[in-house]
Amino acid sequence: MRRLGCPKNGGDANQGQLDWQTPRTFDNIYYKNLIQKKGLLESDQVLFSAGGFTAGIVYEYSNNASKFNADFAAAMVKMGDLKPLVGDKVTNNYTPCKAQLSPTFYNVKCPNVLQIIKNSTRTAISSNPRMAAGLLRLHFHDCFVQGCDASIFLKDDPFKGIISERTALPNIFSVVGFDVIEAAKSKVEKECPGVVSCADILMVAVRDAVEMVGGPSWSVKLGRRDSTTANRRLAEKILPAAKAPLDSIIKVFNDSGLSVRDLVALSGAHTIGQVQCFLFRDRIYNDKSDIDPGFAKTRRRDCPITHGHTRRAPLDLVTPQLFDNNYFKNLIQRKGLLESDQVLFSAGGSTASIVSEYSSIPSKFMSDFAAAMVKLSDLGTLVGEKGVIRRVCSQLP
Ligand code: HEM
Repeated sequence: MRRLGCPKNGGDANQGQLDWQTPRTFDNIYYKNLIQKKGLLESDQVLFSAGGFTAGIVYEYSNNASKFNADFAAAMVKMGDLKPLVGDKVTNNYTPCKAQLSPTFYNVKCPNVLQIIKNSTRTAISSNPRMAAGLLRLHFHDCFVQGCDASIFLKDDPFKGIISERTALPNIFSVVGFDVIEAAKSKVEKECPGVVSCADILMVAVRDAVEMVGGPSWSVKLGRRDSTTANRRLAEKILPAAKAPLDSIIKVFNDSGLSVRDLVALSGAHTIGQVQCFLFRDRIYNDKSDIDPGFAKTRRRDCPITHGHTRRAPLDLVTPQLFDNNYFKNLIQRKGLLESDQVLFSAGGSTASIVSEYSSIPSKFMSDFAAAMVKLSDLGTLVGEKGVIRRVCSQLP
């Protein structure tokens, strides 16, 4: 259809409507067009086709016209605030008008919140040591899908348009830890109702959990708010699978602003926690796999070829409950349980040299992991007037 007004030869100055359906109305049809692959400019279409956060936001605006209108207005105000050029300087450095996250955000409004979360997390981990791993994965799966906004907690709610991420394939029967955060949240609500977001509670609990099992600590910036949306389709598209090729894992991390070094450091989270048999069975029964044969044999004992799909094995065979750098030592010995782990070393190149570095310098792994967690925690945060403070993490107010 577009070729009619834009012949292959000539007609260079002919004009085409950017929004082919309602070109004279300021509405959200532009986003609907992108989902139908009907964006006219490449720079428009890529917002959806590239996946990642931009695609999640395109979905959100296509379903929620008032959200688009509100965000558009807010962004116009921000754009109006950009520092004008002064004197004879030409620069593209500017300071956006941005609500800030801060480690002291709740100091006045809820001074005991950090201690309440720490106590809750400690209780959960002492009754189930695997919970540190559970919370860490819950955090990753929340932040990767439309940002660290507790969207993963929301349960299906057809009246509010919520199609839950909890039941997305990478999460269902797999991600745990929701109850731990709900328990902490209800204690926090008793002390300071309607003040602290679920997203922030998760963030602090994960930091504490990692430290409690021997990992590094870091300062958590606070003041995030909870989303009013969830995105199951995006969760299924973006969360990496155990057999995903390395290129695609690197890409999905890069799309979220995380480097190859961040990827390798964050993969070190697999120094704790467990994985279900059906996710590594092919690898331990495949004679052509690069897996260490003795390790494969050991793992076969608890993961039979025909049954026991959901039996679990530790991701780190040496110190499964301790946050240390044995995960990287295992990879060098070809004892990575998931293909997506082993490939970080077997593929050679930059990921392999970072694996070697972390296996020989544990302190470097710890500091890079902490730095990457801070980056992960900054993804797509809702601040200021955006989002809500949920009273119960699984429900919208
Ligand atoms: C790089 C790509 C990644 C892939 C392909 C991947 C894949 C997986 C898979 C398949 C499992 C086992 C799930 C199950 O058995 O139900 C798992 C577990 C786990 N993942 Fe990842 N993961 C990745 C990155 C990460 C990151 C970045 C983190 C955190 C920062 C993380 C933290 C964990 C933890 C702690 C567990 C154990 C959870 C438990 O015991 O409940 N993973 N991962």
